[in-house]
Amino acid sequence: MQNNQRYLVTAALPYANNHLHIGHIAGAYLPPDIYVRYMRMKGEDVIFICGSDEHGTAIEMAAIQEGIQPREIIDRYHFSNKKAFEDLRIDFDIYSRTSNEVHHKTAQEFFLNLHEKGILFTKSEKQLYSEKEKRFLADRFVTGTCPNCGYENARGDECENCGSNLSPLELINPRSKITGDTPVVKESTHFHFPLDKYQEKLEEWLKSKNGWKQNVMNYIKGWMKTGLKERAITRDLEWGVKVPLEGYDGKVLYVWFDAPIGYISATKELFELRGDADGWKRYWLDNDTKLIHFIGKDNIVFHTIIFPAMLMAHGGFILPENVPANEFLNIGGQKQSKSRGTGILVKDIVAKFSADSVRYALAASLPENRDSEFSWEDLQARNNNELAAILGNFVNRTVVFAKNKFGNKIADRTESTPESEDLFRYVSSQAELTGKLIEEFRIKDALSEAMNVARAANKYFNDTEPWKLIKTDKEKCGSIINDCLRVCFSLAVIFRPFIPGASDKILGILGIDTASITWKDASNPAIPAGAELGENMILFPLIEDEEIKPAEKQKEEVTSSAEDKTEDGLITIDDFRKVQFKVAEVLECEKVENSRKLLKLRLKVGDKEKQIVSGISEYYKPEELIGRLIIVVDNLKPSKLMGIESHGMLLAAKSGKELKLVTVDGNIAPGAEVN
Ligand code: 2FM
Ligand code: ZN
Repeated sequence: MQNNQRYLVTAALPYANNHLHIGHIAGAYLPPDIYVRYMRMKGEDVIFICGSDEHGTAIEMAAIQEGIQPREIIDRYHFSNKKAFEDLRIDFDIYSRTSNEVHHKTAQEFFLNLHEKGILFTKSEKQLYSEKEKRFLADRFVTGTCPNCGYENARGDECENCGSNLSPLELINPRSKITGDTPVVKESTHFHFPLDKYQEKLEEWLKSKNGWKQNVMNYIKGWMKTGLKERAITRDLEWGVKVPLEGYDGKVLYVWFDAPIGYISATKELFELRGDADGWKRYWLDNDTKLIHFIGKDNIVFHTIIFPAMLMAHGGFILPENVPANEFLNIGGQKQSKSRGTGILVKDIVAKFSADSVRYALAASLPENRDSEFSWEDLQARNNNELAAILGNFVNRTVVFAKNKFGNKIADRTESTPESEDLFRYVSSQAELTGKLIEEFRIKDALSEAMNVARAANKYFNDTEPWKLIKTDKEKCGSIINDCLRVCFSLAVIFRPFIPGASDKILGILGIDTASITWKDASNPAIPAGAELGENMILFPLIEDEEIKPAEKQKEEVTSSAEDKTEDGLITIDDFRKVQFKVAEVLECEKVENSRKLLKLRLKVGDKEKQIVSGISEYYKPEELIGRLIIVVDNLKPSKLMGIESHGMLLAAKSGKELKLVTVDGNIAPGAEVN
């Protein structure tokens, strides 16, 4: 029987107003990339869709703040993020953009379809309006106090502190994000989607869904329990997909109405490029296709409730088969977020470390069921103690042995021992298990099972002691090395979805054509005896302490630099004013235990005392500093260095191997402001 099954895999369209950070990758991009690579090796028909989400107030806001056009913002981040994905070997079939014409047309047609069916309705609503700016303050254009948790800088659409969805009118003490102006309330007419009318249908559909993650189901239940409500799907904005009806000038579709339609338009674009203009229909309109949305947890409601309801209302489209949403990846216990000033950018991490190392470290700690943590030490340990010490070691010792003792040729397999049969049975069952776990979206567990194969392979090498056997029975030894080379092949297959670069290299050494690799090869790794092996290479160079130190520093720079800095490196006077420089007197100072570089300083700044940890131990002895007046950044977010809290940063000048603290010219009271 012919298998007509198809898979349409989407990854959340990231906003083009920011560089991607590794939290995005762990949440919504690496898992589908691994899934898609695996499914293709299994022979499935899969397309993998993504692109930039280029509308919404976040983008317009970024443009206003930089004094440029939204187009410049989206171009900058679209191409930067596209490259970041490529550098990490996240291989979409298409990385489209919602500013494309095909998207505007598709989104407008979708809207008109619902409008013509009489599903949408208009309603005049109270909105916040800035008299000063002559504009309605939609979503992120307004900030104020969250009515749920009291956080003072909640956005008009969401409180970043407690995660609740908000509308601008709910904010206490609202102000314009741009001018700080207090808005007035004014009526405006908007199109609404009657989400409430789809509650029953959605619940019915969701009942048929098993195999959905618990975190996703719990979230949906919470929404259903409070009862779905109608939602405005247009906004008073300039930037976005225009409402395609006469008399609605100045109104665009709400970004969360047009963005998921972006998955459809990107698919259209893909098939247009492939010269098969109708091809997209097989993926969106045919029940033999399984639609899988990979997202982060903040997008759950849109992908499991709102977009499915829109698809139901439109009719003809398939609904998602699964929405494997991940939780968040934190750094130092904090959510990665630009506005909070935390995060490791993809473009920075790939500039220093290989895509394989980063992919492996992230995949090993994916936030699949709960928030997880990332640290530079973790990246180093995963690379050195697992990739290099287990997988790399096995491949290397096998290839080096073949080179030194068998003329760099694949030795004949002359016998099959119970041990080798056990090993191959294990490899085969592990390949099956790894695949099954990937299909269940348990990528982290899948990776750990893959590494167990490399562990077993090393054990086989150790137990069979080829270095001894070569002296007594070369033929048997050759057979064992043949086994080991075949396991190298299996490992290249099993690890291929996770670390494609290393997989290519291993297959290259073995002389195997990478184009025709299938998942089945893991259980049946055929290599031609007598063939010459390719050049051996270090698969996973060790990451030295020094390499992660600058990375640590880089992270601090991301954390502490004015995040709104423009691309040309210039900051505004307002940015500068945000930083409070103060004179501080050093009261106490001591070395941090087990650290070569850190000193812990107790400082007097005005009438308060504070602790700062600084990497100046190679330049100053603690006793030299006591009593000195230095300059510190007083309003830096606290951070921890080697587990010790630091509440600021001291200023120093550095040139080559020299470092000198910045001090004041004479005596002045500690706490004095420095401008
Ligand atoms: O959270 C975000 O970054 C959104 N831009 C995701 C959109 S996903 C899809 F619906 F387009
Ligand atoms: Zn809140």
